[in-house]
Amino acid sequence: MTHSRHLTLTDLAATSALGHRLAALLDAGDVVCLAGDLGAGKTTLARQVIADLCGIDDAPSPTYTIVQVYETAAAIPLWHVDLYRIEDPADVEQLGLDDAFDDAITLIEWPERLANNLPADRLEISIAITGAGVDTVREARITGFGSWESRVDEF
Ligand SMILES: Nc1ncnc2c1ncn2[C@@H]1O[C@H](COP(=O)(O)OP(=O)(O)O)[C@@H](O)[C@H]1O
Ligand SMILES: [Mg+2]
Repeated sequence: MTHSRHLTLTDLAATSALGHRLAALLDAGDVVCLAGDLGAGKTTLARQVIADLCGIDDAPSPTYTIVQVYETAAAIPLWHVDLYRIEDPADVEQLGLDDAFDDAITLIEWPERLANNLPADRLEISIAITGAGVDTVREARITGFGSWESRVDEF
């Protein structure tokens, strides 16, 4: 059984608010998958978490570097990962993600690229964009897997 929550992100402030709440929950060993199309707000959400936990504003998107590593004020490594450019799942192995899953806080954009290699304990935030122009709406679905099933209620 998995637990799922649903939120409508009406504007940037709503996405930032979700980032604040997420940041407050995270600890070493936590993995957060950020799913959704280009422009959904995955990096925006990760950036808020990095600002809150690491004191770094305007963290760059890891689209080209694939991994950016930060450190929280509590000296926990924070990995911001974007797997968009990964085409061969074998390339993922070289990133050392398994170590990060154990010890760091890991935020992963395009987690689909990991297919069956996602950790069993993970939070997934999937953002879907509907409509266009002024009618654009972002819907976030928050799902806890494994140990995150009960923690989803903390949102
Ligand atoms: N509610 C919202 N949440 C997040 N981003 C939004 C929102 N409304 C508009 N935007 C804009 O959409 C873009 C999202 O970009 P980004 O976070 O890089 O997306 P992704 O990483 O999913 O490709 C940004 O330009 C941001 O300003
Ligand atoms: Mg992004």
